[in-house]
Amino acid sequence: MPSRRLFVTTALPYANGALHIGHIMEYIQADIWVRFQRMQGHAVHFVGADDAHGAPIMLAAEKAGQSPEAFIGAIQAGRRRYLDGFHLSFDHWHSTHSPENTALSQDIYRKLASAGLIYRKSIEQLFDPVKRMFLADRYIKGECPNCGAKDQYGDACENCSSVYPAAALKNPRSTLSGATPVVKSSEHHFFKLSNPECVAFLREWLQLPGRLQPQVVNKAWEWLAGEGDNALGDWDISRDPPYFGIRIPDLAEEKYLYVWLDAPIGYLASLKSYFDAGKAKANGEARSFEAFLSAEDIEQVHFIGKDIIYFHTLFWPAMLRFAGAPYRVPDHVYVHGFIGVSGEKMSKSRGTGIDPLRYLELGMNPEWLRYYIAAKLNANVEDIDFNPDDFVARVNSDLVGKYVNIASRCAGFLNRHFDGALAPAAQTAQLGFEDVARLGAAEIEVEVREAYEAREFGKALRLVMQYADRINQFIDEHKPWELAKLDEQRARLHSVCSVGMEGFYRLTILLKPVLPSVARAVEDFFATPNLRWGDLCTQAGQTVRARRIKSYTPLMLRVDATQLETLFAPPSEAPTGRSPQTHAEHQQHGSPKETKVSEPISIDDFAKLDLRVAKIQDAETVEGADKLLKLTLDLGGETRTVFAGIKSAYPPEALKGRLTVMVANLAPRKMRFGLSEGMVLAASGEGPGIFLIAPDAGATPGMRVK
Ligand code: 2FM
Ligand code: ZN
Repeated sequence: MPSRRLFVTTALPYANGALHIGHIMEYIQADIWVRFQRMQGHAVHFVGADDAHGAPIMLAAEKAGQSPEAFIGAIQAGRRRYLDGFHLSFDHWHSTHSPENTALSQDIYRKLASAGLIYRKSIEQLFDPVKRMFLADRYIKGECPNCGAKDQYGDACENCSSVYPAAALKNPRSTLSGATPVVKSSEHHFFKLSNPECVAFLREWLQLPGRLQPQVVNKAWEWLAGEGDNALGDWDISRDPPYFGIRIPDLAEEKYLYVWLDAPIGYLASLKSYFDAGKAKANGEARSFEAFLSAEDIEQVHFIGKDIIYFHTLFWPAMLRFAGAPYRVPDHVYVHGFIGVSGEKMSKSRGTGIDPLRYLELGMNPEWLRYYIAAKLNANVEDIDFNPDDFVARVNSDLVGKYVNIASRCAGFLNRHFDGALAPAAQTAQLGFEDVARLGAAEIEVEVREAYEAREFGKALRLVMQYADRINQFIDEHKPWELAKLDEQRARLHSVCSVGMEGFYRLTILLKPVLPSVARAVEDFFATPNLRWGDLCTQAGQTVRARRIKSYTPLMLRVDATQLETLFAPPSEAPTGRSPQTHAEHQQHGSPKETKVSEPISIDDFAKLDLRVAKIQDAETVEGADKLLKLTLDLGGETRTVFAGIKSAYPPEALKGRLTVMVANLAPRKMRFGLSEGMVLAASGEGPGIFLIAPDAGATPGMRVK
């Protein structure tokens, strides 16, 4: 029986753009925590969704010449590549533009209204007479009423920092149509956050020890305790048409719920859709959605960024509390900082220099990024910095150099000399080091567990790497490579390598929340599927499940510094000749733009390429590689092996006997699966599909292409 039942969410990304590294960081953080909880045997229901409503999305769809539904649909369809690509184990992904969200949002609205917490009031706003819509501050520009600076937005001046109502701007204009806005009044619906009961509830909710990080409580407290001009105001939750959102129910007039009201309800809508699809049941939860939500034993946990604390620690708990059953208030809201790149701040809409899809397309290992981000994260609301040199160092020296290296140091001896069997415990005990691996783990197990639980991932990984250091030192001390030369040292060699491998097995368990794919390969290697925390067996007398190993293939390659150069290369230098931004736009919006042609090269540069016609003699899939096919190419006498990322486009059988073109003088590259001796040429565009290049009929293997 699972002892905890967790309902976990990450902030819902707006459905008007690609996911950027900030989103991926948050998902990685939550995913590590979720995987850790699952390894403890707890039941976790981990859901996400797109935040699909609001004026910006409506306007973006209009600009793209699409209906909002088609526009957000295309964005949503693109999410899977990121989620799969970075091993993000959401149980369900939904959308706020859904029947579930409409029903839940309208239900919550009605319940808040019956609780007397919603009132109506006419307000005056600037209205665009051409677009025939009310304008949010960001769609109005004019001259600052204080200093006269031109081109200032409708809420604050970037020049003199004064704050003002939009109507105070001089010579205002709508950024949507250029028209001069007019003042118009309209009746709005307000949520009475200032209600004394509401304020009292929030004070209590915020202060429950352990619910929120102290920095978050302080921040929310400042807003709650504000007085005079800074007093917490009531919340305008309605919008006039045209708006892409959820209708306010029971109202003859067409009005919509403000996107920030229905967005967090999207967490519940996704959960409901997950229940309705039978996935909760498959995940061991027999109760209905309503019964689950109102049960005492559930913990509702939200992971969010520091920019949306306001909504998640004031409005959201208040809405839930006063809507009443079956809704429950969040048990935890865990807040993280932003991610910058080499000291540069990230913009919420543009992201940073790292495009997550480009990272994947370059063949960079998603677990490098998971590890690096985890190593940087702690439980505070601190910004983190992606530093390319640091990334290379941590991945190569810690992850590969310390952890993976243990397996490469021991597995060969065990396979060559002992047919893959680990030494019996009694034999290891006789030699006096039966406890080396286990006792090392026992010392850190509790601390690592507590660190993961508290989201102190950097600390957890530091401890794990210290443990890896101890195992490597043990191997250094006992020098299996020397023992292997002496027949009389066979038992010792066997035990030393077995202790090393047991340590590696335990390290894998400790790292599994961060490295799920490597852990899966190791589970296969030891034939110990589904490793849980309890499999650590850190107490004396407990024996690990691993007793034998299969043949060893390297689990992870080192990162090559040039890969990072390519990742950060400006668009014109990037191999695909496109910027991450346009790339993402194409993927998401299907509105192709011209792809910029690379900088000119001389004929001499071109002549350096030795392109040859090659015949594909054989094509096979590669175990453990999602994208690669192993091609055996005939160059007219000479045979080459090339690993090509074309598996998604061609079944191997269809390639045998075909002619293609290869770069024959590309320096051979060592890959995880073997040596790749060249590259075949294929075309790809912004849309799906990879198209192998083929010469015209009559060409024969070995011919030069010039
Ligand atoms: O800030 C944002 O990106 C919002 N789309 C987050 C919404 S989180 C939740 F409330 F839906
Ligand atoms: Zn000003």
